[in-house]
Amino acid sequence: MTHTGFSARLIDWQLRYGRHDLPWQDSRDPYRIWLSEIMLQQTQVATVIPYYVRFLARFPDVAALAAAPREDVMALWSGLGYYARARNLHRAACEVMEKHGGLFPKSAQALAELPGIGRSTAAAIAVFASNERAPILDGNVKRVLCRVFGIEGFPGEQAVEKRLWTLAEALLPERSENIGIYIQAQMDLGATVCTRARPVCEHCPLATECVARVSGRIAELPARRAKKTPPRRMSRVVVVICGKKVLLERRPPAGIWGGLLAFPEIPPETDIQTWAARHFGINASVCELPPLTHGFTHFTLEIAPWRIDLPAAPRALAEPVWQWLEREHIAIAALPAPVRKILEKLPE
Ligand code: ADE
Repeated sequence: MTHTGFSARLIDWQLRYGRHDLPWQDSRDPYRIWLSEIMLQQTQVATVIPYYVRFLARFPDVAALAAAPREDVMALWSGLGYYARARNLHRAACEVMEKHGGLFPKSAQALAELPGIGRSTAAAIAVFASNERAPILDGNVKRVLCRVFGIEGFPGEQAVEKRLWTLAEALLPERSENIGIYIQAQMDLGATVCTRARPVCEHCPLATECVARVSGRIAELPARRAKKTPPRRMSRVVVVICGKKVLLERRPPAGIWGGLLAFPEIPPETDIQTWAARHFGINASVCELPPLTHGFTHFTLEIAPWRIDLPAAPRALAEPVWQWLEREHIAIAALPAPVRKILEKLPE
């Protein structure tokens, strides 16, 4: 698709099908537009509207907001979430009073210096308040661009984001007179048509040339964040068998498998035969069992089990947390899954 085609189709679509009656759309007052853009970060239009109306009634201009105690600002924000936005809003209002004589800065560059205003929000305010020709790149726009132009990689990644900014800049309409309609079109298309789940491609002005649509990859674009491989931890354990009994250890209440029965763990450098002689006073027979991998949310545990067969039960157990479990009770004992698996695989 040509770059002019992209903006022309979006502008045409916005005039016919976009949103035109949102409460912040009838104003060029940078204060009102700023307030709406901050409230709309990570928050849907329908949620924002009543907050926006109440907020403006109480703080009709930047001077009123700056003069208010912070608690009043927080109280009016309460329920909207992401409260750092409200704290930054108040700080920014104070800064506009102190550093800019109560007048909102006009350019996107100057706006981005204020607390809580990133590059995309600064651009949106400068576009809607003064027709500046500046691109935006919020989550919705990233999704549209990744799909339409088939951009690979997770959009939150720096290199991908840089590429998207360059593309967003290149796609801007030549003349700035329609810039507000174009930027609103990008927001509206992402929010109402090119949604994350189940986009309504039949209503999209870009569908015929959308790479994701044409190649059947709507569900794959934009790419999700690459999953980091969890760190691996080793655990060397002993499966001490004495006749029909197996030795288990009660785990401390906090931490993995808290309160459950598991195998005693021994450090990697310890010699198993020596360990058995020390704890049971017997020369036991030792053999290595097949290893087992168990996935936790934040790491992968590699269990290396060693079997120790005792010819006779020692008179007392060396550790207070140790206990014998009858092997026929394995099914009803409180055992973590990998411990149960290892026990179930043991020959009778
Ligand atoms: N999301 C962010 N800014 C918006 C705006 N001005 N209109 C609608 N949705 C938005």
